[in-house]
Amino acid sequence: MVTILGIETSCDETGIAIVEDGCKILSEKLKSSVDLQAEYGGVVPELASRVHVENINVLIKKALDEAKLRIEDVDAIAVANGPGLNGALLVGTMVAKTIALVEKKKIVSVNHLEGHIFSSFLPKGKNEENIKYQISNIKHKADKKMSYFPMMVLIVSGGHTEIVLMEDYGIYKTIGSTVDDAAGEAFDKAAKILGLPYPGGPSIARSAMQISNLKSQISNKSQNVNVKLPRPMMNSGDYNFSFSGLKTALLYEVQKVKSKKLKVKNANKKLINHKISNSENILNNQLVSMSAWEFQEAVVEVLVAKTKKAMQDMGVYRLAVVGGVAANQRLREKIYEEIDGEIMIPEFKYCTDNGVKIAVAGYYKYMSKEFVRWQDLEVRSNWEL
Ligand code: KG4
Ligand code: ZN
Repeated sequence: MVTILGIETSCDETGIAIVEDGCKILSEKLKSSVDLQAEYGGVVPELASRVHVENINVLIKKALDEAKLRIEDVDAIAVANGPGLNGALLVGTMVAKTIALVEKKKIVSVNHLEGHIFSSFLPKGKNEENIKYQISNIKHKADKKMSYFPMMVLIVSGGHTEIVLMEDYGIYKTIGSTVDDAAGEAFDKAAKILGLPYPGGPSIARSAMQISNLKSQISNKSQNVNVKLPRPMMNSGDYNFSFSGLKTALLYEVQKVKSKKLKVKNANKKLINHKISNSENILNNQLVSMSAWEFQEAVVEVLVAKTKKAMQDMGVYRLAVVGGVAANQRLREKIYEEIDGEIMIPEFKYCTDNGVKIAVAGYYKYMSKEFVRWQDLEVRSNWEL
């Protein structure tokens, strides 16, 4: 039995978890500074670091208490020491070093993105069979070859958008990535344009869901808003993405529709005041929702098409979709609709940053004896897979 304490502090989530044998979650604690960050419309690195400092020791103590363990009972500390925000990563890294030094514990260093990949191996719910399958899978793999790989991985988070061919545990080939903004970052920026709160992914998804509702409120069909956005790099022939032009296209599209609406408003001047503002409100909400919907469609369509192409071109049957944007319901639907093969997408709560995925990835590294001396552990904010 191997018990790993996972530490995640790469961005705005302090995640701590204690996981046994790479799959049995004994405890998990998460504290996010997202509400504080929302006031600034995005992540303020210093604020993220400060919140990690305030929370990390408390969360470790709570996690140990809940697992009914003492720190002495833990076999190793798995820490995400990159990539991410320098100051934020430093908090988790220093805590891991300190525990290792004082308690004489082993450290395994986990790439944050590798952590996301391992979140796809997490058992769904409390399904015992699945848990056993995952354990035997990881254990066998540490001993001898199994035909589990190659596997394609779509990593879609706030900082990364990559298609990775996973040839084995620990062996990754990045075959495509974004040339500018990451998918999550694009959602966050688009939400700002539409006046929706941070983080943008969930608020765009919520707004997009309201479309059919709003459409039924508009009696005059000619007033329905139509927003059309491009599908960037859809036919580029490679597996790369570009999302920064999409948000500019969104901005222009919104401005165009707004100026059209102004004309409608002038034509309606004879209506009594409250009627105008009521219909305007509905139109405004409709514009935001239509834009949110179309933006989400554009991002999702490109992500799915490129991933499908990568799988077909390379004859890969298994796919994992991981990272914060993997929580997007529309992306999940479209992946299942369009892609043939075995698809692994983590539960919603394990898509975004957490300590569990770091502990699970750490388990594999522990089994392969990939230990790092505390003196050698460093923050690697630009660490590539
Ligand atoms: O993986 P993650 O927690 O942090 C990074 O490693 O970056 O991903 C955070 C990103 C944010 O950009 C957020 O807007 C996006 O994931 N996100 C979503 C959804 N939930 C979170 N994007 C689209 N739809 C969602 N439901
Ligand atoms: Zn992440």
